[in-house]
Amino acid sequence: MATHKLLLLPGDGIGTEVMAQVKRVLAFLEQQGLASFAVEEDLVGGAAYDQCGLPISEEAMKRAFAADAILLGAVGGPKWANVPYEARPEAGLLRLRKDLQLFANLRPALCYPALADASSLKRELVEGLDILIVRELTGGVYFGEPKTITDLADGQKRAIDTQVYESYEIERIARVAFELARTRRNKVVSAEKHNVMKSGVLWKQVVSEVHGADYADVSLEHQLADSCAMQLVRAPKQFDVLVTDNLFGDILSDVAAMLTGSLGMLPSASLGAVEELTGKRRALYEPVHGAAPDIAGKGLANPIAMIGSLAMALRYSFGEGALADRIEKAIAGVLAKGFRTNDIKSEGATVVGTGGMGDAILAELAAG
Ligand code: NAD
Ligand code: IPM
Ligand code: MN
Repeated sequence: MATHKLLLLPGDGIGTEVMAQVKRVLAFLEQQGLASFAVEEDLVGGAAYDQCGLPISEEAMKRAFAADAILLGAVGGPKWANVPYEARPEAGLLRLRKDLQLFANLRPALCYPALADASSLKRELVEGLDILIVRELTGGVYFGEPKTITDLADGQKRAIDTQVYESYEIERIARVAFELARTRRNKVVSAEKHNVMKSGVLWKQVVSEVHGADYADVSLEHQLADSCAMQLVRAPKQFDVLVTDNLFGDILSDVAAMLTGSLGMLPSASLGAVEELTGKRRALYEPVHGAAPDIAGKGLANPIAMIGSLAMALRYSFGEGALADRIEKAIAGVLAKGFRTNDIKSEGATVVGTGGMGDAILAELAAG
């Protein structure tokens, strides 16, 4: 059996709490002889800053490059509100994404049948919802230069962020979206703002060209990003694959998360290009949610997004699709049995904490 090299970066706040549940699932898979892992662990975010003054150490970056896959909890929190901008916890995560060239961020938003009433929308709008957001992750305004705050002569200040996209960056994320659409319902919506942004003009043009050249069998619709946000809450089931840039993808995926009931439900995969020689790709898996300082340390966090991120790692990095299916089935099973963390609770449910949800998922896994 192949041994998968896994780097765990729990991070801050509820990141460490939800990662603790992933460790239990890894131990279960190993004990049952279902998979074999060589697990390393390191610090990222505020935890790393407290230890070495950087949001990720060079040592941890080396480990990240050496791993088959990385699992990350979450970073950030008020404790680090005043650290220098370059050393803020989020900078550790952004460095991982950029240095490992993880340009394709897949954020599936699935509404589990048992959770249709936990959504902030009416049941009939979200029942059966299955959207895949494909977010560009290494370009755009997150990384464009200049990125500065300067003092002006009159005592005013000026802040600049720069949205930059080159056509190759748009082309490769569009290809990921079209390829994935072919494995699903064959429909892509591309969101940008070509009405006010040059990068939006180029985005729309390149997506259309890639579509016309190689993916004419896939249905493609262009939506302005603001209108897309409106459509996501008006009639979310119209979406299959939604491809968009780094910033719009960040915002639209939080919206999509709430359609499914909670931010605590959404896993994600951040993937690099497939290397020709090895057929492998670099990958980091993390929940869409953050460190949730408002509930950190209370044992309330929903671990499903984190455990779902492990399932994505098994599927996309380790070729263990059947194990990924089994974990996702166990998640659906515990929800169907009425287990709920606080964020998705409803009348008559069995409300459990982070560890209780871990217990329930492990019991379901053990049952088959
Ligand atoms: P957040 O996602 O941490 O929390 C938003 C809300 O959702 C909070 O009310 C929180 O309690 C709730 N929530 C999130 N995850 C949950 C879970 N698993 N179970 C139950 N409830 C959950 O966003 P925020 O409060 O805007 O950001 C807090 C910090 O996290 C910031 O420093 C931010 O930069 C960082 N952040 C990090 C990541 C990441 O590491 N990938 C992602 C988003 C935000
Ligand atoms: C996310 C987060 C990150 C982002 C932050 C923590 C840098 O919000 O992964 O959704 O903005 O990409
Ligand atoms: Mn976000």
